[in-house]
Amino acid sequence: MECFEALLTRRSIRRFKGEDVPLDKVLKAIDVARYAPSAKNSQPWRFIVVKNPETIKRLSELSIGARPLANASMAVVVLANKDESPTSYLVDGALAAMYFWLALHCMGLGAVWIQTLRRIEEINKLLGVPSNYVPVAIFAIGYPAEKPPVKPRRPLEEIVFIDKYGNKIQSTGK
Ligand SMILES: Cc1cc2nc3c(=O)[nH]c(=O)nc-3n(C[C@H](O)[C@H](O)[C@H](O)COP(=O)(O)O)c2cc1C
Repeated sequence: MECFEALLTRRSIRRFKGEDVPLDKVLKAIDVARYAPSAKNSQPWRFIVVKNPETIKRLSELSIGARPLANASMAVVVLANKDESPTSYLVDGALAAMYFWLALHCMGLGAVWIQTLRRIEEINKLLGVPSNYVPVAIFAIGYPAEKPPVKPRRPLEEIVFIDKYGNKIQSTGK
């Protein structure tokens, strides 16, 4: 895929076909995620590939937003180590998570980012994660069974300022 095409066609996929996701594809996406930038190149991330259906079910019950996990054939939890990047672990972890998501998309896999930050202790306990790690994201992963349209985006003239907050750019007509 072209770079812009990959960036612009990624969607949150919440419905998946029953087909199993090959582990090697997920490992390939994690391999790519290693190339995300991080503060001082600390790479504070770790990944737990969750294949156990009972564990995926338990994760799906954490919140309403976690429901897409219930029909996912695999889940990946992205962890960030607070000690390895004390100021930036959340940012670093989110960057690796985003690289991972885009790499999955480039291979034709669908995924959605599941919110973790209100359930940190429960997730760590369920997966045996030491307390110096924060689960930054859980991804529900599978072959897409839906093609969601793009969600509305704020226009450039709302989000871009020149030189100083409030100095808007001219309308782009988009
Ligand atoms: C930090 C973060 C948390 C999210 N949490 C959830 C979630 O718990 N459940 C869910 O279904 N989608 C979740 N999403 C997906 C967003 O709803 C989605 O990215 C957004 O609506 C834009 O849609 P798109 O990903 O298709 O562009 C989350 C996304 C991010 C970045």
